[in-house]
This record gives sequence, structure tokens and C-alpha cells, in this order.
Amino acid sequence: MKLNFSGVSILFLFSFILCSCRIDPLVLEDYNEEGIPCDPDIVYFEKEILPLLQSNCAQSGCHDEITAEDDVILTNYKDIIETADVEKFDANESDLFEVLIDGEMPPAPANLLSSEQIALIGDWINQGAKNNNCDDCDTTNTSFMVAIYPIIQTHCEGCHSGSTPQGGISITNYNQIEGLAANGHLLGVIDHEPSYTPMPYNLPKLGTCEINKIKTWIANGAQNN
Ligand code: HEC
Repeated sequence: MKLNFSGVSILFLFSFILCSCRIDPLVLEDYNEEGIPCDPDIVYFEKEILPLLQSNCAQSGCHDEITAEDDVILTNYKDIIETADVEKFDANESDLFEVLIDGEMPPAPANLLSSEQIALIGDWINQGAKNNNCDDCDTTNTSFMVAIYPIIQTHCEGCHSGSTPQGGISITNYNQIEGLAANGHLLGVIDHEPSYTPMPYNLPKLGTCEINKIKTWIANGAQNN
């Protein structure tokens, strides 16, 4: 019985190895690496680039699927690559990067992206413009500058900055964010509490990790740290 059992296990192992060798390299290249810890030297599409483009560019009247201004759609990986002429490994040949670096997009009254955000998009393209993601949740560090402000910049500032911020609410610095934390609106909108308008508006809810970081920061006094 014992021998038989290990024989079966070996067979299983063999077929597993055989199967894994047959994975198409094209599939692997665009493999969504969930469950993989975040490498600080790698830019991740799902976590960093997609929410930035969604909140800054993919609004109704701009580059959502319905308006598709200039036939450019910036709501999902495939369309971002194809319609914004992203040349993998070459940011300078990519329309997506050019319009940002030239200051052409987003048009006023929206604010331009920050130089850090533009550089991040350039790095992502130069690293191959992969459809990648990573997964780590460190709620031990919830410093405003390191953990909280970057979430707001990526997910909220696109609509809540510039001379005519949406909903009449500007969310671009500590005092404004602390104000929304103190009156309960920040948590209300991101946690989709009833009686608040769910944010980011018409876009996917923030990840559990990001919401937990913001909750912890608020519970610890919403400090400017
Ligand atoms: C795509 C654009 C867009 C993005 C991105 C966005 N918002 Fe909004 N926000 C709006 C609009 C539009 C309104 C006005 C909605 C209304 O009044 O029905 C609004 C209203 C609000 C309000 C007031 C509504 C209330 O119930 O208190 C808060 C607070 C807010 N947003 C916070 C955020 C935060 C925090 C983020 C990021 C996690 C964010 N928003 C991302 C467009 C956006």
C-alpha cells in the first residue's frame, strides 16, 4: 500500500511538472502576480498605475469607455496599452508618457500630474509596462507622509484638486485630509458607509489594506507624521 501511494504521488508530481512547463510565455508575461510581495524597485500596474490613470484621466467626458476622447481609453490594461500607444520598455516613444511630460494632459482646470507621478509611469513603461500587481499589507507604518498621503494622491487627487475640484472638495494637503478624517467623511466615503457617496467616485473601492491603513492612522489621532 505504501509503495503504491508514493508511486501515485510521483505520478502526480510528474504531471504537475509537465503541466507547469507548458505555460505559454505570453501568458506568463502578463501574469497578474497577486500574492507576491512588493519589490520597492518595481512599479506595479494594478496598485500604482491603474488607480492613478483612472482617477486623473478616465473620468466621464475624458478617457472613459463612453467618451473615449481622441479614441483613447484609460480604464483598463488592454486599452491603456493599445489606445495610448504604450511602447513597452520605451517611455519616450509612448504617447501616454509624452502627453504627460509635455504638460498636455490632463487639460485645465485639472492639475497636471506631479513629476513623481509622471516618473512612476515612465518607470513602469521602461520596465515593460506589465500587467503586474503585488500584495503586501504593512499596517505597522501608518505615517501620514509614507503611508496615507500616497494613497490619497493616487486615488483621490485627480478629481479633488485644481481650480474646480469635484464636489467642491479639495483634498491635496494634510489640513484638508485631517479635516475630512475628523468629521468622519474620509472613512465614510472610502468604506462605503450608508449616507456617504462612495469614493473613489464610480471607481473600484480601495483595497482592504489601504482602508485599514487609513483607519489605523485615524485611530492613532490622524497625525501629521
Ligand atoms: C473620478 C473622480 C473622483 C475621484 C477619483 C474621487 N472623488 Fe470624491 N467626489 C467626486 C465627486 C463627483 C463628488 C461629488 C459627489 C456627489 O455630491 O454626489 C465627490 C465627493 C466627495 C466627498 C463628499 C461626499 C460625501 O459624502 O462626503 C468626499 C469626502 C470625497 N469625494 C472624498 C474622496 C476621496 C477620499 C477619494 C479617494 C479615495 C475620492 N473622493 C476620489 C469625484 C471623485
